[in-house]
Amino acid sequence: MIIRKLTESDGEALWDLISVIESTLVSRDFWLPIKKDSGDHFLDDSWTEFHGAFDGDRLVGASALFFNSFEFGESLERLGMGSEGVAEVGRSMVHPDYRGRNLLMDINRELISVARERGLTLLLATVHPDNAPSQASFKRLGFVKRTTYLKSDGFVRDVFTYGIR
Ligand SMILES: CC(C)(COP(=O)(O)OP(=O)(O)OC[C@H]1O[C@@H](n2cnc3c(N)ncnc32)[C@H](O)[C@@H]1OP(=O)(O)O)[C@@H](O)C(=O)NCCC(=O)NCCS
Repeated sequence: MIIRKLTESDGEALWDLISVIESTLVSRDFWLPIKKDSGDHFLDDSWTEFHGAFDGDRLVGASALFFNSFEFGESLERLGMGSEGVAEVGRSMVHPDYRGRNLLMDINRELISVARERGLTLLLATVHPDNAPSQASFKRLGFVKRTTYLKSDGFVRDVFTYGIR
């Protein structure tokens, strides 16, 4: 398994994986609908950096760092924090055939290194309280739950943070 940054040429594979994830969700509440402004910037380095896990040529898992507070401003506000030095880890997904191998944790470890290299100081992640695999993966990486709230789009989320040292 190789984990690397996704580029424009991975766009089709990324959207194919998203479509598998969206059609196999345990609960619709676990995955926020993708807003156009967000999806349009999935492979735009100034806004998002996706890393993905490949089995040969096949993209089987992915997770992103979001640098634009459009993505996470509401959660930051909840925590009473400013956006300086902050990014969000989100759109975490592993193909159903490849779950149970802690792949998300491996991808997110790489994202933490990228965030450190970029000089960021804090990462956010939001997870539905009942999304056990996602909760377990972020907690095991060292993310700490800070609060739970009902987002303005109607979704409940636990907000996790990870301080980069
Ligand atoms: C969340 C997701 C990416 C995790 O995939 P993964 O890395 O293969 O996760 P794993 O199956 O290896 O499980 C991760 C951890 O959760 C635990 N876990 C898995 N299923 C579980 C369950 N039903 N109940 C409790 N714990 C569970 C595993 O034991 C593992 O714990 P460990 O780190 O202590 O060993 C994957 O489930 C997914 O794509 N889900 C759909 C999209 C989604 O919900 N994304 C997250 C949005 S926040």
